[in-house]
Amino acid sequence: MASAKHGFALVTPASRGLGFAFAQQLLAKTQLPVVATARKNCADLRDKLLSSEGLPQDAEQRLRVLEVDVTDETTISSMADTIRQDYPKTPLRIALAIPGILHVEKSPAQIGAESALHSFQVNALGPLLLMKHLSPFLPTKSSPEFPISENPESDNELKLPSHAIYAMMAARVGSISDNNSGGWYSYRASKASVYQIAKTFDLYLRGRCAEKALAVALHPGTVRTDFTKEFWSGREMLEPLDSAYRILQFLAGMPAGSKDGRGRCWDWKGEEVLP
Ligand SMILES: NC(=O)c1ccc[n+]([C@@H]2O[C@H](COP(=O)([O-])OP(=O)(O)OC[C@H]3O[C@@H](n4cnc5c(N)ncnc54)[C@H](OP(=O)(O)O)[C@@H]3O)[C@@H](O)[C@H]2O)c1
Repeated sequence: MASAKHGFALVTPASRGLGFAFAQQLLAKTQLPVVATARKNCADLRDKLLSSEGLPQDAEQRLRVLEVDVTDETTISSMADTIRQDYPKTPLRIALAIPGILHVEKSPAQIGAESALHSFQVNALGPLLLMKHLSPFLPTKSSPEFPISENPESDNELKLPSHAIYAMMAARVGSISDNNSGGWYSYRASKASVYQIAKTFDLYLRGRCAEKALAVALHPGTVRTDFTKEFWSGREMLEPLDSAYRILQFLAGMPAGSKDGRGRCWDWKGEEVLP
């Protein structure tokens, strides 16, 4: 396992879909401790992740699964307390904050107050609260840079940069400029706020961390997960591992000093999605 100065990785949630794929990739392609979260059945998730193909022998030692439900802030603060205790003086090197839920509304009449509130709680307030409790783990201006790859020739290794990356999952349908078909009111509106949260958080990080940490929003493509189950037949889709791999490669290659990159929303191909 890498030493504390290499930092730790975090994926929340990782119970299935893209989060599971991100956690698998980080276990397989980095030497970092990986904190993954689930709302329940943490032991099952741990077993499932560790039975993934291609993991190095020390994966078991590196993986920690913690319980987080983003609609309950106490679970987020408990996760932060556990990290503080178990990984002392270890900065957060890469975070994927990706909770998401869709309640389909095709017309205004289908909007239910309770389900719409739930969308905002998971998709917008969730990333806000995760950011609140996780931001103290990011390196500051005076922190040392993360050591970069000690094994630069290895094809299997994700070559993480010397700065930290905090990524939150938006969605293309949260883009106002890209909205040509309407519908999904509460999903669109709650995901639109992720673009704003990422931008605002990145401005904070510029002041607090300068080039040591950046924030971005992401669009993963249309990915074959439970989320898109309704559309599996008849649409071409990315597999979760492909989307996660492409996103991690893109994030790893993004310079922290670039005025054009940080605070914006990027898709799995590395193309910008305008708000
Ligand atoms: N798949 C796509 O094509 C696509 C496209 C654009 C954006 N996205 C976004 O990408 C992210 C991941 O989506 P996915 O495709 O992997 O979806 P998914 O397979 O449906 O997974 C959704 C994840 O969100 C978790 N979640 C739901 N409510 C939560 C809560 N209260 N607290 C914490 N976690 C909660 C689920 O946990 P449980 O297992 O406990 O339910 C699950 O891990 C989402 O933000 C989604 O909006 C996906």
